[in-house]
Amino acid sequence: MGMRMRDKVCVVTGGARGIGRGVVEAFAREGAKAVWALDVSDKDFPELEAAFPGVVRGAVVDVTDSAAVNALVARIKAECGRIDALVNNAGITRDGLIQKMSDEDWDAVVNVNLKGVFLMTRAVAPIMMEAGSGSVLSISSVVGLDGNIGQSNYAATKGGVVSMTKGWAKEFARKGAKVRANAVSPGYCRTPMIATVPEKVLEPIIAKTPLGRLAEIEDIANAVLFLSSEEARFITGQVLRVDGGLVL
Ligand SMILES: NC(=O)c1ccc[n+]([C@@H]2O[C@H](COP(=O)([O-])OP(=O)(O)OC[C@H]3O[C@@H](n4cnc5c(N)ncnc54)[C@H](O)[C@@H]3O)[C@@H](O)[C@H]2O)c1
Repeated sequence: MGMRMRDKVCVVTGGARGIGRGVVEAFAREGAKAVWALDVSDKDFPELEAAFPGVVRGAVVDVTDSAAVNALVARIKAECGRIDALVNNAGITRDGLIQKMSDEDWDAVVNVNLKGVFLMTRAVAPIMMEAGSGSVLSISSVVGLDGNIGQSNYAATKGGVVSMTKGWAKEFARKGAKVRANAVSPGYCRTPMIATVPEKVLEPIIAKTPLGRLAEIEDIANAVLFLSSEEARFITGQVLRVDGGLVL
């Protein structure tokens, strides 16, 4: 167990499973004072909280719900006094070729992956700026940098996360505040999100990946941990690809 997040108060959206859960566990193992795992369902919270008693706290919130986001962030501030690290990880896919992509598929993905990131950051960043330090780390995707067939909605949101992050790096460093904003762009990673992607789709991706495999949750969590920690204190406005060298 390291201490790279010693005494930090951390908030991770979509923290119940997949990459978000890996980040929650990494922060807790690295000495965080509190790690808030935000998710739409509380089903996985008892197990996660029991693994890190007194550190991990599950909270039900839909990141698309502005009032709920504001209320929860105010509660975290009231209970913990500050927020040092935000990880915007909650995300969904509703894939389809453009002619088959419905308005609902577009809106659902934009709401969670783009508006959700905006709402969380709008609520948390002023708290960090007032404190004078903090890290906002958002999960983009290789698809946000390279594009992909059947992912108009998803690619737009993940590209939007990159451009918001670059803007925030400038905006959050005004008035002497040392609030950093970075993004991590994972390649395909074995989580529940890609459980339905057929192996015949994944095989050519592995074949195009110089390091010859998909990402493990830990590969992504390690990069998030580094960028969220003081080790990355002079890094802001960056997008780190964690994809084994894949170019889509
Ligand atoms: N798995 C991959 O291959 C991959 C690759 C690149 C980027 N990503 C990105 O990484 C992030 C995590 O993906 P994952 O694979 O762990 O996904 P996942 O589906 O396994 O987990 C996502 C979590 O987010 C939660 N969530 C969904 N909508 C929410 C909402 N409105 N409010 C709060 N929580 C919500 C879900 O309940 C779930 O626990 C996403 O942003 C995804 O786009 C994943």
